[in-house]
Amino acid sequence: MANDLWQRLQFWRDNGDGSEQSHAASNGNGKHPANGHGPNRGPGLSSVPTPFQNRNQKTYAHIVGWGMDVPERILTNKDMEAIVETNDEWITARTGIRERRIADEHESTTYLALRAAQKALTVANILPTDIDLIIVATSTPEHTFPSTASLVQDQLGAIRAGAYDLSAACSGFVYGLDMAAAKIRAGDIEHALVIGAETMSRVLNWSDRGTCILFGDGAGAVVLSADQYPGGVVSSTLRSDGSGWDLLGVPTIGSRDSYLQEKMEEADDDENNHRMHRLHMNGREVFRFATRVINDSIKDVLRMANIELSDLSLVIPHQANQRILEAAARGLKVPVEMFYSNVAKYGNTSAASIPIALCEAIDEGRVKPGDNLVFIGFGGGLTWAAMAVQWETDVTKQSPQRIMGLRRQLTYIYAQQRRGVLHQWRKLYGKVSGPTDPESTIKQLRNKIANLNWEDEPEEEKEK
Ligand code: UT7
Repeated sequence: MANDLWQRLQFWRDNGDGSEQSHAASNGNGKHPANGHGPNRGPGLSSVPTPFQNRNQKTYAHIVGWGMDVPERILTNKDMEAIVETNDEWITARTGIRERRIADEHESTTYLALRAAQKALTVANILPTDIDLIIVATSTPEHTFPSTASLVQDQLGAIRAGAYDLSAACSGFVYGLDMAAAKIRAGDIEHALVIGAETMSRVLNWSDRGTCILFGDGAGAVVLSADQYPGGVVSSTLRSDGSGWDLLGVPTIGSRDSYLQEKMEEADDDENNHRMHRLHMNGREVFRFATRVINDSIKDVLRMANIELSDLSLVIPHQANQRILEAAARGLKVPVEMFYSNVAKYGNTSAASIPIALCEAIDEGRVKPGDNLVFIGFGGGLTWAAMAVQWETDVTKQSPQRIMGLRRQLTYIYAQQRRGVLHQWRKLYGKVSGPTDPESTIKQLRNKIANLNWEDEPEEEKEK
C-alpha cells in the first residue's frame, strides 16, 4: 500500500509537470533523452526506479544540477592599491588574480549558499523536498553552530533533509562531495545538495598584503543524484597533514594555540581584535605543499578509476594561484589549459572555488557527456582531496519547466512563511509558558541542586 502510494507520487512527480520537456522525452531505461546515454536526471527527468526500490542494483552518484552565486561588488587590483601597499603588476604576476567579489552586509554565507543551491535545484529539476542531505563546506560559517547547512535547509524548505557543515578549508567541497556520493552509492539516499560557500572578506586581515589580496567571496552548489547508469563519482582520495596546522588558519575565540597567544602578547588590544577570527598564512610554505600534493593526488584517483592520463578531459582545481596550476600542468606534462582557471575573476574563494569553476566550465562548453574530470582541492589543515568524475549528464540548456519551477517557488515562499510563523509562535509560547530568562533558569537550577539528595555521599561524611 505504502509502496503503491510512493510509486504514484513518483509517477505524478515525473509526469505531472505538463512542461515542454515531458516524461515522453525520456526513454525510460536510464538513457538520457538528449544524447542517448547518461543519467536522465538533471535537465532530464527520472524514470529509473529509486535506489530504495532497487537496493540490490548498483547505484551511481551523478552530478545533475549546478549553480553559483557571487556578490555584485567587484574589488579590482587597482582598488587594492588604496587598501594596502601593493600594485596590480605584483598581484597579477604572482597570482594571476585581477579582481575578486566582496560581499555586502546582507550577503552572508547562507545567502550566497542559498542562491547557488536554488540555481542547482532548477538545473536538476527537483524540489527542495526531494533532498535527503545538505552539506555545506565552509570556513566562514554564520555560527559555530547552528550549521550554515541547517539555515540553508530551512530557507529552502528541504524538510526531509539532514544538514551539516564540513570544515576542510579549501578542500571542503571535494570532501563533501565524497561524503554525499558514498551515501548515495550505499543506497541510503537519493538526492544530496553539496555546497561550497564563503565570505572570506569577513575574516581577512585587511592590513596584511600577503593575504588580503588573495581571497574573495562566493558560493557554488551541486545536486548529486542516484542513478543506475554507470559513471558519476568514480574515485576519490581524502588526505590531511595536521602538522601543518599553523601554516594557514583562522583562530577563533576558543583557540588556545600558540599562534594566537604569541600574537596577542606582542599586539595591543586594538590589534588583538584584528587577529582573532582573522586569517593568517605562510604563503610560501602553502605554495610548496600545494605543488607537492596536486599531481600525486590526480594520478591516484585516475589509477583508482582505471582512467589513463591521456583520457583525462579537464581538471577543475581549487583556484588559489595561477602559478600553482601552471606548475601542476608542467609536472603532469599536460597543457595548462587542461587545468580550468577563473582565478583572475574571483581570486581564492576557498571551498567555493571548485563548484564555481565547474559552473563556469560548463557554461563555456568545456564539459560534456563522456568526459573524465578531476576535482582537486588543497588548503588549510593541511588538507587535500581529489576526485575523478565520469561526466554523463546532458549540459545543454533545456527549456524551463514551468510547473516544477512554480512548485519550487511555492516551496520557498512556504519555507519563508513557516519560519516567520514558527519564530513568532516560539516567542508567544515563551511568554505564556512562564519565565524563560536565563537568570530565573539559573536560580531554579541552583535550588534544584541545593535540594538534591546525594545518595552516593561517603559513609564518613554522613556520620558527621
Ligand atoms: O587556498 C589555500 C591555498 N593557498 C595557497 O595555495 C596560496 C599559496 N601561496 C601563494 O600563492 C603565494 O605564496 C603568495 C601569492 C601568497 C605569495 O607569493 P610569493 O611569490 O610566495 O611571495 P612572497 O610571500 O615570497 O613575497 C615576495 C615579496 C616579499 O617582499 P621581499 O621580502 O622579497 O622584499 C613580500 O613582502 O613580495 C612581497 N609581497 C608583496 N608585494 C606587493 C607580498 N605580498 C605583496 C603584495 N604586493 N600584495
